[in-house]
Amino acid sequence: MALETPIELLKTAFVSYSHVDFDTAKQFYLDFGLNIVEESPDSLFFRGYGTEPFIYHLKRSKTGKSTFDGAAYIVTSRRELERATSVEGATPISRLNAPGGGEVVTLTDPQGFHIHLVHGQAEREADNLDLEKLTFNYEDNKPRKGRFQRFSAGAAPVYRWGHYGVTYDPVNVGYQRMFSWYTEVIGLAPSDFVERDGHTITCFFHVDRKKDFSDHHCFFFKPCKPGQEPNVAHAAFEVHDFDIQQLGHNFLASKNYKLCWGVGRVGGHFIKRNQYLMTDNRSMYWAVKSLTTGSTLVALWSNIMRTVTWSIKTPM
Ligand SMILES: [Fe+2]
Repeated sequence: MALETPIELLKTAFVSYSHVDFDTAKQFYLDFGLNIVEESPDSLFFRGYGTEPFIYHLKRSKTGKSTFDGAAYIVTSRRELERATSVEGATPISRLNAPGGGEVVTLTDPQGFHIHLVHGQAEREADNLDLEKLTFNYEDNKPRKGRFQRFSAGAAPVYRWGHYGVTYDPVNVGYQRMFSWYTEVIGLAPSDFVERDGHTITCFFHVDRKKDFSDHHCFFFKPCKPGQEPNVAHAAFEVHDFDIQQLGHNFLASKNYKLCWGVGRVGGHFIKRNQYLMTDNRSMYWAVKSLTTGSTLVALWSNIMRTVTWSIKTPM
């Protein structure tokens, strides 16, 4: 049965992965700055210091392959979960057996990626890390007088998970099917488009909160390269600010994790990023992302690399 309106989303919740090398993945995410909430031999829940009871579910792969097992959003009411069960291929409502509890319905997009819709999850009280909000001195305005900024090296505390991306098969699935699904079945709205040869191939989306602002993007999709299988592109986690991001970057580099991108600014208006590759997938930090609404002007980029204002690209 077709939905009259898309499933209304409230915000991002968590991502879920299965890793062949469970122990390496566990160590990576500890070094990345996540905290263990609950652990068993084959399943581990990590949290940030924000209100989400967990933000990364790590599972031991049973298939011999590392897989992306979907991303989750909180929906605005239980009614939205009930409506979601009418979507083709949806699961029934079931208990979410994870920290914070709640209920979940899992959908599958045209490319086969899972979207978990969650309601009734109990939030935790955010940790107060008392991270300093820096005062910047500009050439014509220098409010920081007689005060200094001191930093400690080490892992970056991660606040929450905030966006991810996937690749799609441009021949057998195609851009339009993906775009229609993500805007008509679940309530995402476009923030930026990227085109190639006059055709739109990539879209960045925000959670459609109508007149309320939300992060510039929580999701994007782009075509997979010839010969490649559709897969997750990366998952991205919010940290306090640029310095924390750079300190985390330095810490991961000191542990010899493989770097995909250096720290940089993307879009000229939203994030700074770095990406680390570990056991078949990439994770990255972001900070200072802009907020947007449906009435913010949507940007059209002629090339995805034009969205990168400055960054160090590490050849892969
Ligand atoms: Fe990203």
